[in-house]
Amino acid sequence: MSASTLTIKDLHVSIEGKEILKGVNLEVKGGEIHAIMGPNGTGKSTLSAAIMGHPKYEVTSGSISFDGEDVLDMEVDERARVGLFLAMQYPSEISGVTNAEFLRSAINARREEGDEISLMKFIRQMDKQMEFLEMSEDMSQRYLNEGFSGGEKKRNEILQLMMIQPKIAILDEIDSGLDIDALKVVSKGINEMRGEDFGCLIITHYQRLLNYITPDFVHVMMQGRVVKSGGPELAARLESEGYDWIKQELGIEDETVGQEA
Ligand SMILES: Nc1ncnc2c1ncn2[C@@H]1O[C@H](COP(=O)(O)OP(=O)(O)O)[C@@H](O)[C@H]1O
Ligand SMILES: [Mg+2]
Repeated sequence: MSASTLTIKDLHVSIEGKEILKGVNLEVKGGEIHAIMGPNGTGKSTLSAAIMGHPKYEVTSGSISFDGEDVLDMEVDERARVGLFLAMQYPSEISGVTNAEFLRSAINARREEGDEISLMKFIRQMDKQMEFLEMSEDMSQRYLNEGFSGGEKKRNEILQLMMIQPKIAILDEIDSGLDIDALKVVSKGINEMRGEDFGCLIITHYQRLLNYITPDFVHVMMQGRVVKSGGPELAARLESEGYDWIKQELGIEDETVGQEA
């Protein structure tokens, strides 16, 4: 298996006719951890939704490709099958489907017919990863996200990540609402995934997650564009100084795109 590349070029995305993304350029390769930071309402979640093909988000121009293949041409489940993974800021509840059932079908959907994971192997792996993530055993038999606390949802997303083993993951606000212990566990899971075959785009509001996961690249998103890129030191500066210096440096007017969705 060789490393994958997700390439986003001059991406413009509208929601209900209003342009939110105004030309995003970004490339994430296997082996790399990228962080996108930025104020509320600048289009970070819009970017992740567009990558995964949420129907409400209309790509008006630009391109998204995965190992040279046009992602925008793929159905949503196809995007997952080629190796993309999205943890959403607000994961949905699915009543009547247990966490274990959901995970097993998600894994099998990515495999060829006849090559499904055996039940025994699946259970063994799931037990192992749940222990690693310090999750209580009953979580596997609970309905997906139903009544999960904020922290349980995020931990569960990391469990999905570790079980599914995608090539490129986009994690939107995986750290929001977590207490320090949950934050450490979530970081531990992401760090465990680190390796040549895994690339990750971490979208976060706060620098604190990046105390536990050192990104290779940090990008700042403002008003629908990536306006600045750098290394981990950029995140540290944002934490101590906020975003005003970037606005000044780039001569950006203090106009927000809108409210956080
Ligand atoms: N489903 C939606 N319907 C209408 N407007 C939306 C929707 N999702 C996002 N927006 C708008 O798009 C802008 C960017 O939102 P979002 O991408 O969620 O920002 P961020 O994640 O950076 O906080 C905001 O003005 C928000 O109100
Ligand atoms: Mg968001």
